[in-house]
Amino acid sequence: MKLIQTIKELQAALGECRAQGKTIGLVPTMGALHAGHASLVKRCVTENDVAVVSVFVNPTQFNDKNDLLKYPRTLEADCKLLEGIGATYVFAPSVDEMYPEPDTRHFSYAPLDTVMEGVHRPGHFNGVCQIVSKLFEAVRPDRAYFGEKDFQQLAIIREMVRQMHYPLQIVGCPIVREADGLALSSRNARLSAAERETALNISRTLFSSVEYAKTHTLAETKRFVEDAIAAVEGLELEYFEIVDGNTLQTVRAWEDTGYIVGCITVYCGEVRLIDNIKYKEETK
Ligand code: PAF
Repeated sequence: MKLIQTIKELQAALGECRAQGKTIGLVPTMGALHAGHASLVKRCVTENDVAVVSVFVNPTQFNDKNDLLKYPRTLEADCKLLEGIGATYVFAPSVDEMYPEPDTRHFSYAPLDTVMEGVHRPGHFNGVCQIVSKLFEAVRPDRAYFGEKDFQQLAIIREMVRQMHYPLQIVGCPIVREADGLALSSRNARLSAAERETALNISRTLFSSVEYAKTHTLAETKRFVEDAIAAVEGLELEYFEIVDGNTLQTVRAWEDTGYIVGCITVYCGEVRLIDNIKYKEETK
């Protein structure tokens, strides 16, 4: 495995791979890697000749300066993990390397990016699209891997790829959870032991709501989740939306569409956690 810090060096290395007819997979990350990232990288390693993992805490997608400052940075441990699971290249550029000048491009994929995170984190998805498009252009992967935990991000990146005609396949990978249900997130590292216990109520509530949904209306199920989270001291619900899994628009009744997902964002102390659950699976 090789650590690369400049686009020039990355492109030289990947140019050689491409000339040899090798396929290239990309896993974009912000580091502080955990088993969720590892599952993306393992899949990338299996499905491509060359697996590139980018580790870059992208400043343009943080609308909260404090969140950016506190974002965990663990490059050495990340490299160890990546080496152990067979990544070929780790691309860990500096901010100046990725943004030698301010990025003035504006990405907007309404209505996908005007709901949920789009409301609560203005500019976030613009920043995500800025960096992901730069990574796609630098790496030119055949496939790129993203987790379903960031459900809205995945939908927006799929749309960006569609509209920009990037010649690559987006592979969405299922959420990885701890044995007790907590969705893996780099932000979990910021939870105290007590907060982690409190945070467990998020996934527990989502799982119970799937059972509840079998015998209740969509509106009742939404209220069930909102009430359950409100009842937990230490959790503050930012939003819970039950949406169409493709359009991300609010659904009013279970029969309205064939793919239904509940997306939640909750503050546990100062840590903002997101999760989601499928009420109706996508039929392919
Ligand atoms: O999901 C993330 O970690 C980030 O949003 C991504 C896709 C790596 C872009 O910075």
